[in-house]
This record gives sequence, structure tokens and C-alpha cells, in this order.
Amino acid sequence: MGKIAQNKRVAPVFCGIDTVELPFASRCARAAAAAGFGVKLGKEFFTFHGPAEVRAILPVGTPLFLDLKFHDIPNTVAGAVRSAAAAMGPMMLTIHASGGPAMIRAAVEAAKASKVRPMILAVTVLTSLDDADLKATGIEDDTSTQVLRLARLAQDNGADGVVCAATEIAMLREACGPDFKLVVPGIRPKGTAAGDQKRVMTPGEAFRLGADHLVIGRPITEAPDPEAAALAIAQELVEVA
Ligand code: C5P
Repeated sequence: MGKIAQNKRVAPVFCGIDTVELPFASRCARAAAAAGFGVKLGKEFFTFHGPAEVRAILPVGTPLFLDLKFHDIPNTVAGAVRSAAAAMGPMMLTIHASGGPAMIRAAVEAAKASKVRPMILAVTVLTSLDDADLKATGIEDDTSTQVLRLARLAQDNGADGVVCAATEIAMLREACGPDFKLVVPGIRPKGTAAGDQKRVMTPGEAFRLGADHLVIGRPITEAPDPEAAALAIAQELVEVA
């Protein structure tokens, strides 16, 4: 079985880098690394550049959160997890819990068989969906009931944790126990703009509620000095610890 790095103190924050501009992505990744943070790359960067550039912009030793949200038949997702692990060695990667029990198990088994085992995080209900959207897809329950159902499904089938909204931390920590990883975007350090995020929380509030890792993008990447912004967040974390 591959090794897994799951210590909460390893990269408390992952800097979400959503761009295809290589020099800019690289600058943001260095800023994250300078503060002891990891880097989250997703479909935009990966689809344009592929694994070689993912490796190229990551400073040595910087943990990668590969957010590609795999959702397919179990065999295909297992293959994608194997490929991601072998090509980029992410600390964490995402799948959709709605892919079902066999798909979740296939992802977890593939991760366990990898040389460096990535954590498998499930996405439950995308925060862009509301109750009416769920209803349109045939789900009568409200979003929070569906989030809980899919988080439990993910946990029961071996996933290491979920990506969740700050407003879901307390419910999921209570339902899924202390070892289930909660990775939380929609975080805004004090004094930064919310942008298009509707419900934001500060890093300190999210950690106090039980988050394991936070995803923070624009407060770092759109700052005039990304490294100074990342270091200020790291300092804010020390103060609330
Ligand atoms: O710039 P910002 O801090 O809002 O970036 C948050 C990152 O987390 C982005 O990469 C975004 O796609 C991702 N994310 C999110 N909300 C979710 C899931 C992922 O903001 N529910």
C-alpha cells in the first residue's frame, strides 16, 4: 500500500490557481509555497497544459490538490486515479460522490495501489446548485440532506473526506467523525473581497468549526503581491491557532 501524507499541519491552505497563464500560475505557486501552503489546480489549468506543466510550476515539495472531479464508470475512474497519481503525485484528488458506491470504491482502491497514495476527496452537491436544480435532476430532498447523504456514501465506501462549504462543516464533522477530512473553499481572510462567493468565512472560523484544509484562491492570486498575501494568511492562522 502506498504512503499517505494526511497531517493537518501539512499545507493547512491550498492556493486555488485558476488561470492558464504559466508565468502567473508559477508566481502564485511560489507564493503559496513560501507560506507553507499547497497548490490546487483544476480543469482549466490541467486541460490546457497537462501533467508536465503541473509538475513544472510546483515548487519542490509543494503538495498538490488536483481538482479534476472524476465522474465515470468505476473502471475508467480507477484508471484516471492511477494516471493522476503516477503522473503528478497529488496529495489529494477529487471525484463526484454521485458516481455511486462502486465508483468511489474503485477510486479508493486505485489510490491505495499507487506508489504515493493520494487522498480521495468526494464532491457532494456543487455549491452552484440549489434545491430547485436538484429537483430538476430528480432529487426531491433539499441540498443539505443530499450533501449529508453523499458524504456518508463517500465515507462508507472508503473516501478520505469531502470538499464542503463552510456552512456544512459543523453538520459533516458531527455526522462523519473526527478522522474524515473536510476541505473547504469559499474562505476569505479578514479585509479581502468576497468576489462571487456568496457565503464566506474567515480561515480562523473555518478551522474552529473543524475544517482540515482550506482552499483560498483570489485573495492570494489577485493580490498585488501574492507572496505577501499568502504570508499574511499564514500569520493570521498562527494567531488563531
Ligand atoms: O478565489 P476563490 O478563493 O473563491 O477560489 C476558490 C477555489 O475553490 C476555486 O478554485 C473554486 O473553483 C473552488 N471551489 C469553490 N467552491 C466550491 C468548490 C470549489 O469555490 N464549492
